[in-house]
Amino acid sequence: MPAARIGLHGNNKSDDELRRALEAGVGRIVVDSFTEIETLDQIARGLGTRAPVLVRVTTGVHAGGHEYIATSHEDQKFGLSLASGAAFDALVACQDAEGIDLRGIHTHIGSQILSLEAFQESAERMLGLRAAFRAEIGVDLPEVDLGGGYAIQYTPAGEALSPHDAAAGMAEAVAAAMSRVGGTWPRLSIEPGRAIAGPAGLTLYRVGVVKHVGLEDGGQRQYVAVDGGMSDNMRTITYGAEYTATIASRLSESEPALSRVVGKHCESGDIVVRDVDLPSDIARGDLLAVPATGAYGRVMANNYNAVLRPAVVSVADGASTVHVRRDTLEDLFSWDVAPD
Ligand SMILES: Cc1ncc(COP(=O)(O)O)c(C=O)c1O
Repeated sequence: MPAARIGLHGNNKSDDELRRALEAGVGRIVVDSFTEIETLDQIARGLGTRAPVLVRVTTGVHAGGHEYIATSHEDQKFGLSLASGAAFDALVACQDAEGIDLRGIHTHIGSQILSLEAFQESAERMLGLRAAFRAEIGVDLPEVDLGGGYAIQYTPAGEALSPHDAAAGMAEAVAAAMSRVGGTWPRLSIEPGRAIAGPAGLTLYRVGVVKHVGLEDGGQRQYVAVDGGMSDNMRTITYGAEYTATIASRLSESEPALSRVVGKHCESGDIVVRDVDLPSDIARGDLLAVPATGAYGRVMANNYNAVLRPAVVSVADGASTVHVRRDTLEDLFSWDVAPD
């Protein structure tokens, strides 16, 4: 990816990260605090350059599948508040900084959002801020980035926000806001993450142990333990994300059984799929596929309990290509430093 097409995010970028971004020619640095604006200005001046910047705005729109992935309400760590005036002040600080080339404003209201109204409200507030900046400072900021967060379907009962509906709805909201506030149109951008990567990936597990556990209501649950878990998929244990699963290595005609897919880690919350019907003849050695794990899966993976992270493999037209190889025990031990 050419550096000029990359946007650098983060609520706590280090001096080194900011310097490296400038040296690499990263296209936009999305600043998230007054500390960062000051630091970036100094570093850019030291390098004899100007940092291309967007200011991350907290619009106050609270949306997202879970509190931990909602990112634009007031009481959380990201962005500069629109309501308190911090976002406006940050824009002025950037405009006045010699080492900063202020390109515009950015917001990201959260993830796994189904509500088109939330995106529309956020766009409306962003364009209002841009208009206020023009009215007071006399500058029409050239760019507005409206972030990502478009929901995808994880389970048969789950819903998604269709890219067509999202684009049409956002265009409508932006057009309405622009006709209200006037001025030149900004260059608009969005940052869909999981809408692109999520459905493109699935996780393949090998079934190890199958156990039947009695429930209080007299029923039974089939626990299907696989060779991974919270080390390759943090989303279920972190915020109760929902997935489905299916046997991928054979067809089965046996009766479906209420099942829970669990990992191999030392926590009872180490669950991959909380509730799913799986065939009652599922057995050690079967391959299990969990769809829609292309986003926030392998990138969040860890080596808890010294479990090795899986490979990333793409498949097309009957051929496969390894993009990230599987961890080895040697990789794991190579981090340890033996005392003298
Ligand atoms: C700033 C920013 N933009 C876009 C995204 C993508 O979000 P999603 O994958 O929900 O579309 C994220 C996700 O963390 C983000 O932090």
